[in-house]
Amino acid sequence: MSKKKLLVATGGGDCPGLNAVIRGIVKRASAETDWEVWGSMEAFNGIMHEPLRLKRLDDAAVAGIHVRGGTIIQTTNKGNPMKYPERQADGSTRETNRIPWLAGRMKELGFEAVVNIGGDGSQAISQALFEAGMPVVGVPKTIDNDLGSTDFTFGFQTAVQTASDAFDRLVTTADSHHRVMIMEVMGRDAGWIALYTAISGGAEVCLIPEIPYDINIVADRIRERYDDGRGFVNIVVAEGAFAKEGSVTAGKGEEGRHAVRLGGVAYTLSQQLRDAGIEADIRETVLGHVQRGGTPVAYDRVLASVFGVQAFEAVLNGNFGTLIVLKENKFTTVPIPEALSEYNYVKPGGDLVKAAKGLGISFGD
Ligand code: F6P
Repeated sequence: MSKKKLLVATGGGDCPGLNAVIRGIVKRASAETDWEVWGSMEAFNGIMHEPLRLKRLDDAAVAGIHVRGGTIIQTTNKGNPMKYPERQADGSTRETNRIPWLAGRMKELGFEAVVNIGGDGSQAISQALFEAGMPVVGVPKTIDNDLGSTDFTFGFQTAVQTASDAFDRLVTTADSHHRVMIMEVMGRDAGWIALYTAISGGAEVCLIPEIPYDINIVADRIRERYDDGRGFVNIVVAEGAFAKEGSVTAGKGEEGRHAVRLGGVAYTLSQQLRDAGIEADIRETVLGHVQRGGTPVAYDRVLASVFGVQAFEAVLNGNFGTLIVLKENKFTTVPIPEALSEYNYVKPGGDLVKAAKGLGISFGD
């Protein structure tokens, strides 16, 4: 008897826990005798181009991968099938919607369903494929924790752990040298990684996109620490943070990616502090992609593994056009458009920010 075929793809930036999701899907699928699982390499690029790049995902292929960072089926944030860059005869490039073609090609190749693991961009592709007639289930991924429909995305806790470990190492240098140490973390337009790291590490200042900062208030907090004899300050700044009168620090985006590429606010802030009269030595650390790599922490392994199992069960139950989420500590599904409509910002008046302020952390407001 020929088996039913499930296609799995990972899209967008990589994230600790992707392999644990893949393993969860495959292990649950092998309990059903009539299914086999395939991975499309580099998101849907494995199907968009000839020769096809598909990888059979069986028990042997996923053995032990839940502890490994990255994704065994690779990923990309280029070649979005909704705006596929096609070269024209005159050498120019035109963006074409290849979704109907892609859905048809998947069916032609015998795939009955797709599990697409990715962030908001990838889930927009899931929805488009679903509308084009392909049965799709989505799994939310991102270290930024910025999807409103789930309590947590997997990868976030690992990014926070990595950032907290780095922060602890910077505290000792701040102390030894009486310095102001600025550590920049990722998160795009959400300040979750910064907020959790600041609380976990015991920062004096935490700057996040949701609370534009007043540089004079930040400078005053620094002076207080020097005046009371402690003489060193540790700051966590989210890459998307900006001053009240300013704008985000960013470079130009890349093809298939966000319009801007964030990064470098640590240096902007450093200069703003000097301009505001801070005379202490200031040093900047931009943590960057170390936050996206390495072994997922136990919380993320569990979350990702359960998401994987539940994604396959959604396929079995025909629960398509949905995203697997953890909502109020319960695993459930939500329609993809609903999931995409809610961005998860840090609430400036929420419990976590209040508690952080209670711990003496200044947000520059
Ligand atoms: O969305 C995850 C993320 O790591 C953001 O925190 C960051 O701004 C962006 O991706 C970096 O993207 P890239 O890997 O394309 O530089």
